Amino acid sequence: MRGFFITLEGPDGAGKGTQGRRLVEHLRRAAVDVLNPREPGGTSIGERIRRVLLDDTHREMAPETEMLLFAASRAQFVREVVRPALARGTTVLSERYVDASLAYQGFGRGLDVALVRTVNDVATGGLLPDLTLLLDIDPPVGLERVQAAGRAGAAGGDRLEQETLAFHQRVRAGFLQLARESPKRFVVIDAQGDVERVHREVVRAVDGLLAGRKVTS
Ligand SMILES: Nc1ncnc2c1ncn2[C@@H]1O[C@H](COP(=O)(O)OP(=O)(O)O)[C@@H](O)[C@H]1O
Ligand SMILES: [Mg+2]
Repeated sequence: MRGFFITLEGPDGAGKGTQGRRLVEHLRRAAVDVLNPREPGGTSIGERIRRVLLDDTHREMAPETEMLLFAASRAQFVREVVRPALARGTTVLSERYVDASLAYQGFGRGLDVALVRTVNDVATGGLLPDLTLLLDIDPPVGLERVQAAGRAGAAGGDRLEQETLAFHQRVRAGFLQLARESPKRFVVIDAQGDVERVHREVVRAVDGLLAGRKVTS
């Protein structure tokens, strides 16, 4: 049986990393074979692209360059990691995927959302997640979490985290619009609650997906 493809999305500091780790523990306890690669990394080529993308000295990067680099990394990720894993029955949990590009490069940077979607369709061969968990958070709350964790450092975070509050507000609104457009794929979770409460909602959504699949297989 093919594995499930699950993605975690949401603004910076929403808790994707935190919830991803908790979800992996939950799934492994339930004897689900799960892979949790790092997107846009997860491959040797992707890790190198990631360093170019996040380097805070690359202030001159054009939005188009950014969009194409994320897509290039994703093309490698899908072919090298995601499709082979799904084919051997492994569930793949990815932090950020196509929706992140639609939200950040489309809604955030102002590139044409339909164009970003087309480019990403090329990159992924049209592979979409079975379930997307959108951890929704008010950007100032998320950015404060990131800062409190010391990730921001003296320079104020990576190239994307350093963007203006208005940019992060557009990203959040973009994610919510995407969720409204694909209600069957998305589950929106209020990420402002404590880690435990958010985890329970994440588990409820994922267990629902796994149970639904068992019934129909
Ligand atoms: N529900 C929560 N409440 C308070 N702090 C949280 C919560 N979830 C995560 N954090 C903290 O916020 C910071 C950012 O979390 P992280 O999981 O890295 O978010 P993301 O990957 O979405 O940017 C971390 O220091 C983490 O410990
Ligand atoms: Mg993270």
